[in-house]
Amino acid sequence: MGIIEKVSGPLVVAKDMLGSSMYDVVKVGKDGLVGEIIQLRKDRAIIQVYEDTTGIGPGESVESTKLPLSVELGPGILSNIYDGIQRPLEVLRSKSGVFIEKGIVADPVDKKKKWKFVADKGVHAGSSVSEGQILGYVQETELIKHYIMVPYGVSGKIKSIKQGSFAVEDTIAVVESKGKSHEITMLQRRSVRKPSKYKNRFRSDEPLVTGQRVIDTLFPIAKGGTAAVPGPFGAGKTVIQHQLAKYADSDIVVYVGCGERGNEMTEILTEFPELKDPRSGRPLMERTVLIANTSNMPVAAREASIYTGITIAEYFRDMGYSVAIMADSTSRWAEAMREISARLEEMPGEEGYPAYLPKRLAEYYERGGKVETLSGKIGSVTLVGAVSPPGGDLSEPVSQGTLRVVKAFWSLDASLANSRHFPSINWLSSYSLYIDSLESWYEKNLGKEFLSMRKECMQILQREAELKDIVQLVGAEALPDHERLVLEVGKMIRESFLRQSAFDEVDAYTSLKKQEFMLRAMLRFSKKAEDSLKEGVPLDNITKMKIIDQIARLKEVKEHEVEKTEKKIAEEMDKEFSDTSKAYMEAEEK
Ligand SMILES: Nc1ncnc2c1ncn2[C@@H]1O[C@H](COP(=O)(O)OP(=O)(O)O)[C@@H](O)[C@H]1O
Ligand SMILES: [Mg+2]
Repeated sequence: MGIIEKVSGPLVVAKDMLGSSMYDVVKVGKDGLVGEIIQLRKDRAIIQVYEDTTGIGPGESVESTKLPLSVELGPGILSNIYDGIQRPLEVLRSKSGVFIEKGIVADPVDKKKKWKFVADKGVHAGSSVSEGQILGYVQETELIKHYIMVPYGVSGKIKSIKQGSFAVEDTIAVVESKGKSHEITMLQRRSVRKPSKYKNRFRSDEPLVTGQRVIDTLFPIAKGGTAAVPGPFGAGKTVIQHQLAKYADSDIVVYVGCGERGNEMTEILTEFPELKDPRSGRPLMERTVLIANTSNMPVAAREASIYTGITIAEYFRDMGYSVAIMADSTSRWAEAMREISARLEEMPGEEGYPAYLPKRLAEYYERGGKVETLSGKIGSVTLVGAVSPPGGDLSEPVSQGTLRVVKAFWSLDASLANSRHFPSINWLSSYSLYIDSLESWYEKNLGKEFLSMRKECMQILQREAELKDIVQLVGAEALPDHERLVLEVGKMIRESFLRQSAFDEVDAYTSLKKQEFMLRAMLRFSKKAEDSLKEGVPLDNITKMKIIDQIARLKEVKEHEVEKTEKKIAEEMDKEFSDTSKAYMEAEEK
């Protein structure tokens, strides 16, 4: 038992701590606040405390639990809303009212609730099992089977295994190893600071389809990949992360909200439980875990929430699921690190952030990936992190540290957001390094044409930007028709394709098939217009065409009407072009 010497915001210094280890979780003061040892010098420990430390003081006791900061994992975890150290907000609230009392202990999963455990057919008394192997499952929600795995560190022969209705701490199997019996329950504990174990790591070769056109078509992210969404305040970072949570084709979503604005978390807490999973129509929460840090929660809890989130994500990956974890915003996490580092009086690095900031960022993103799990399944964790650089200046340390490690970069642009072009992902400065590894997936699933259309689309947008610079100097009239056409088509791609409303029922999600269809229509227009120009038809006759309006409204086409519309649009386009050209020729002859 130690004694508090000093309290400094979220940090507590305690003496007489011999026998404790780094990263042990401790109970601090008379309230038993939860903390973690982050420095040990002889018998002195520096403890970061995950709860408000006002009211505790020197002389009070500190008790080590001798356990690392961990999460509890088992059936009942889905649909939950947790704080940074995995306490369910609902339980916290019902125990203490509006203001969260201190030192509250709340089980992350209900320990009384019974679940129907179904043992795996291949697993019975006498079978050899090893860590990470799947013993059976619980149908946790309508959408998700929760696989029960042999915990880390256990392997041997099954002595007995049961089926039926159990609470998470009931023994469902006994495993004998080296003469010792291990009672296995449906609940396991994992340290949050350690990445999970797996057999192999793979190249990410399959896209996470998000239904967001600018992402899927221009800057895709792979399942198991990493992406950063940097952007100034109000640029649309949160909306994009919500869109991904709702629509990306991952099995499980973990959403870590590090409250940027006061009401932002409240929005999440009220909005998410209402959301429907677009594929099944079931509540989205059935495959979601939310971690919420409101701005009034202590900074240390914010620091922990990122690790709590990624550990939960890895756990579901180990079952063979594809998991997407969104962190909004990682800048708030880095600021928590900065504050704690300053209080530790560590040597500050750039802009006061600790020198280990880049390492922490890299370690976080490295926990993503597509893997073969210990049980031989394929699972992935995809990480998307928002970054909010002050003033939108990407030269600051958090942006730089993030850009060095992520492979997709969706750069949000204040000027686009100001002109209500959403998502405000800048098509000239964003990039995805996944195109090469996704190439064969696209070819197999969409055909060869998709990537070549993507390339053409990018070229038009780049050409458009160059021409716009020229127009600034000399005016559009100075450009020949075929260059003005590039401006027209560029505008069409931007307005009709890249712009996508998150709040329109149809527009909010676009399947890859529909994205391909929209691209094809626009590029067909571009090609036909070029041909007409070559025949001598003036651009002004082309820009008056009705088909342009129709292309602009393709985003309104419902998914089940895509095929029908595709044919109709192509026919009408051909007809209008040939009519336009005929009318022009006739007028010329007169
Ligand atoms: N895809 C979108 N469609 C429509 N409106 C959007 C979209 N993205 C952002 N917005 C608008 O921009 C506002 C700010 O977005 P938000 O995600 O909260 O910004 P940030 O998190 O970067 O501060 C939103 O409230 C919304 O009105
Ligand atoms: Mg935000």
